Amino acid sequence: MMKFIHENYYLCKKNVMRNIFILTAISSFLWTSCGNFDEQNKKDKELFESSQYDLAINDVKDGLFKPIANEKDIDLSADPKVNLGYHLFYDPRLSKNSSISCNSCHNLETFGVDNEPTSLGDDGVTRGGRNSPTVLNASLHFKQFWDGRAEDVEAQAGMPITNPVEMMIPSEDFLVQRLKGIDLYQRLFKKAYPQQEQAITYKNIQDAIGAFERKLLTPSRFDEYLNGDMNALTLQEKQGLMSFVNIGCTQCHSGALLGGGMFQTFGVYHKYWELTKSPKIDDGLFDITKDEAQKNMFKVPSLRNVEHTYPYFHDGQVKSLDEAVRIMAKAQLNYDISKEETDNIVAFLKSLTGELPASTKVVPQSIAALQK
Ligand code: HEC
Ligand code: HEC
Repeated sequence: MMKFIHENYYLCKKNVMRNIFILTAISSFLWTSCGNFDEQNKKDKELFESSQYDLAINDVKDGLFKPIANEKDIDLSADPKVNLGYHLFYDPRLSKNSSISCNSCHNLETFGVDNEPTSLGDDGVTRGGRNSPTVLNASLHFKQFWDGRAEDVEAQAGMPITNPVEMMIPSEDFLVQRLKGIDLYQRLFKKAYPQQEQAITYKNIQDAIGAFERKLLTPSRFDEYLNGDMNALTLQEKQGLMSFVNIGCTQCHSGALLGGGMFQTFGVYHKYWELTKSPKIDDGLFDITKDEAQKNMFKVPSLRNVEHTYPYFHDGQVKSLDEAVRIMAKAQLNYDISKEETDNIVAFLKSLTGELPASTKVVPQSIAALQK
């Protein structure tokens, strides 16, 4: 897989370089032959430079990126399974003391995160060991969690509920019995799973939450650009995108999510904790597989909405996106990135900020009423 990506990447890079070279040659010829270089106003020059980037980017984008799409708004009640999942996602009764819901750590008002280095559990004191990643677009990841220990959003959804430092529900049956005692859920489960005599099951809880999460997609200006609207990105964002490709970020951050498609060692060239100043070293995938080659290996995170999903990395030790980009260049590519390249890449990354369907961000009425 890596070899394939490497070969493709170098092939792309060669093409980009060749195109930039040809275009620069043509443009300097045009400018000198017209003889009116001085009269060109700044805007024309920028437009011209911008179109050069478009051509170069056009050459590589299909192999590296894929646009995503979603409806601007969704009628959540139209699909009974999604509607059930929507209620469960927001319901604090999914935690033992009814104090936290999925939305507490994955707040849909704040891009699916809590912006904390690590999150508080249901007991209000204990924190987990890892940063809460966003649920936005998570259904498109190849696996879930920093170490990929759940296959998909449905499998994942069952885990935080019974996790002893998260929602602390003592057993699957405990939650099933609790929900059976709530009229709202008697109705919603029956509607979502009409064929099943016992509709309220732990498996259906997972299934419905997953169905809701699959609606949490956030297309952005970058998708408009990929779909052919050349004005969707500014010149600086295009420059950032070009640096992102040329420096080699796309070796790992590619596809529809610019990540979420593979595991990689954090710290290919340098010990990550020396750069992030992490107080604790996390062995990542090694903790599950005990395979030395997988020490400090983590899922490559998606970069969609990364502008808002701070603090960064699996332990949330880095607050600024500039710093995260600098650390990545050093740790993963042994590259001392310049201030200009960093600024441009950060500008590009901000074009990945998207919009959730508005209805998903509204707390369901029956749940909002509980909190009053
Ligand atoms: C106490 C905070 C907390 C609560 C409550 C919580 N999560 Fe999480 N969630 C996390 C953390 C922390 C991780 C990362 C853990 C890891 O990778 O080891 C995570 C990971 C995830 C992921 C994987 C995303 C990715 O990028 O791999 C999904 C999806 C998710 N949670 C959905 C949910 C759902 C659905 C609920 C409710 C049933 C929920 N979470 C409840 C903190 C929380
Ligand atoms: C060899 C693979 C690889 C390369 C190359 C790479 N990354 Fe990463 N990136 C990762 C991994 C793995 C993580 C997760 C590290 C962790 O937190 O454990 C990550 C995390 C990030 C994060 C933090 C995201 C978050 O939600 O916490 C950003 C931002 C980022 N990368 C940007 C970049 C940029 C910009 C480049 C190019 C300069 C780059 N990456 C190059 C593998 C890579």
